[in-house]
Amino acid sequence: MKDNIALIGFMGSGKTTIGRILAKYLDMKFIDIDKMISVREKKTIPEIFDEKGEQYFRKLEREIVFEESLNNNIVIATGGGVIIDNENIKNLKETSFIVYLDCTIECIYERVKNSKSRPLLNVEDMFEKIKELYQKRELLYKISSDFSVKIDMDSNMYDTAEKIKKA
Ligand code: S3P
Repeated sequence: MKDNIALIGFMGSGKTTIGRILAKYLDMKFIDIDKMISVREKKTIPEIFDEKGEQYFRKLEREIVFEESLNNNIVIATGGGVIIDNENIKNLKETSFIVYLDCTIECIYERVKNSKSRPLLNVEDMFEKIKELYQKRELLYKISSDFSVKIDMDSNMYDTAEKIKKA
């Protein structure tokens, strides 16, 4: 039965912030996959990427997505790369209503440009990197979701959470 809600979308699209609000609105528990990975490893996400590599991070991500998607009545904020693994999508789809936070590239860039916590964007030309990843992933986000909500610079996170609640 689909009684979880999983938020997917690019880095900076607001999965954690909106997820927390939504969980409050719906009186559901909130969990954040990246946070769980970090707690389990006792390391930050950049430390995990740095010391053990992306493959290792993806393996942990897959395990935790699997474990958490077996829960009931939770809002799950995923990491932006969750959709690159078919198994994650399969596991989430079985128990969750999947919502894509469809955020514009400009808005993503504004939100992440000063962030040091996203190893994949830790490159000289961050805007180019965002564009490259966005193009690779956009279709995956779209086809993996049951519902999508558009987000731009003028969007308000409470209104967005309300739209998801209605859906
Ligand atoms: C990633 C997104 C990050 C985090 C990791 C990889 C990605 O999560 O899981 O740095 O591949 O897009 P956020 O989307 O919460 O930033």
